[in-house]
Amino acid sequence: MKVTVVGAGNVGATCADVLAYREIANEIVLLDIKEGFAEGKALDIWQKAPINVYDSKTVGVTNDYSRTAGSEVVVITSGLPRKPGMTRDDLISTNASIVQSVTENVVKYSPNAIIIVVSNPLDVMTYCAHLASKLPRNKVIGMAGILDTARYRAFLADEIGCSPKEIQGMLLGGHGDTMVPLPRYTTVGGIPVTELVAKDKLDAIIERTKNGGGELVKLMGTSAWYAPGSAAAQMVEAIVKDQKRILPVCIKLEGEYGINDCYLGVPAVLGKNGIEKVIELKLNSEEMELLQTSRKHVKEVMNVLDNMAAKA
Ligand code: LMR
Repeated sequence: MKVTVVGAGNVGATCADVLAYREIANEIVLLDIKEGFAEGKALDIWQKAPINVYDSKTVGVTNDYSRTAGSEVVVITSGLPRKPGMTRDDLISTNASIVQSVTENVVKYSPNAIIIVVSNPLDVMTYCAHLASKLPRNKVIGMAGILDTARYRAFLADEIGCSPKEIQGMLLGGHGDTMVPLPRYTTVGGIPVTELVAKDKLDAIIERTKNGGGELVKLMGTSAWYAPGSAAAQMVEAIVKDQKRILPVCIKLEGEYGINDCYLGVPAVLGKNGIEKVIELKLNSEEMELLQTSRKHVKEVMNVLDNMAAKA
C-alpha cells in the first residue's frame, strides 16, 4: 500500500509520521520542492521506528514525482501557511498555482489515486485540485471537518471534564469563520450535549471552534500542524482500510442540501472508493440558513479562482 504526502512542512511531516507509526501504509513517499528537506524528515521518521516500534517505511524525495508512481492515496499539503492577521482566503493567489501544478504531477504518475487536499483556503483548493486532476468528485476530498470537529470536541471535553473520546460531533460548511457546528447532533457518551452544557457556554465553544485555526496562528505565528496532519492521516486510514467511516469532509455538492457546484464540508462515508456516500442531515431552518451563508462565502472565493484562471 503506497501513500504519498506532498509537502514536507509541519503538516505533511506530521501526516507522514502518523501514517508510519500507526502503520496505516507500508510505503510512504514524502515529497518536497526544497532540496534534501523531505529526505531529512523521512530519515528522522524512519530512525524513530525502533523506538515507537513500527516497520512502515517513509522515503523522502526532492520534487521527483516519478517516485510517487502508483500511489493509492496522495495527500497534498503544499502551499504557504498563513501568518497572524491573514485569513485563509488571503493565501489563494500563492497557493492556487502550487496546488494546480502539484495535482497535475500527481495524476501524471498516479492516475488512479484518491487525492486528499489540506492546503488553504481549503474548500477552494479542493476545487482547484478537482479542476487540475479531472478526477470524479468522490476522488478529490478536502480535509477540514475532522479538524474543526476535533477542536470542537476537545473544547467540549475541557468544559465538561470528560475524555474527548466520549464526544461525538458533526459540523458542516466551509473551513472558515462561516463553518456550522451542530449542537443538535452532538452527544457526550450518548447524552445530548445540551443537557450537559449551558447555552452560553456552548455558544462560546462554537465561536472558539470557528476561530480555532486563527487562535493557533496568533499563538505560534504560523498555522497548526499536529491536528491537521493527524486528521489527514485519519482520512487516509479510512480509505486504505475501507473502513466506511462517517466523517465530515469537503466535497463538491451536486444537489445535496439543495446546493449545486460548491465545495463544502458535509458528513460522508469514506472507504476504498473515496467518498462512497454523502449523508444528508435533516437540518432545521436556522441550520440551513447558516449553511447557505457558508456556501455563499465559499462560492465567492471559488469565483476568485475562476477569474484568476480566466486571466491566466
Ligand atoms: C487550521 O485550521 O489550523 C488550518 O486551516 C490552518 C490555518 O491557517 O488556520
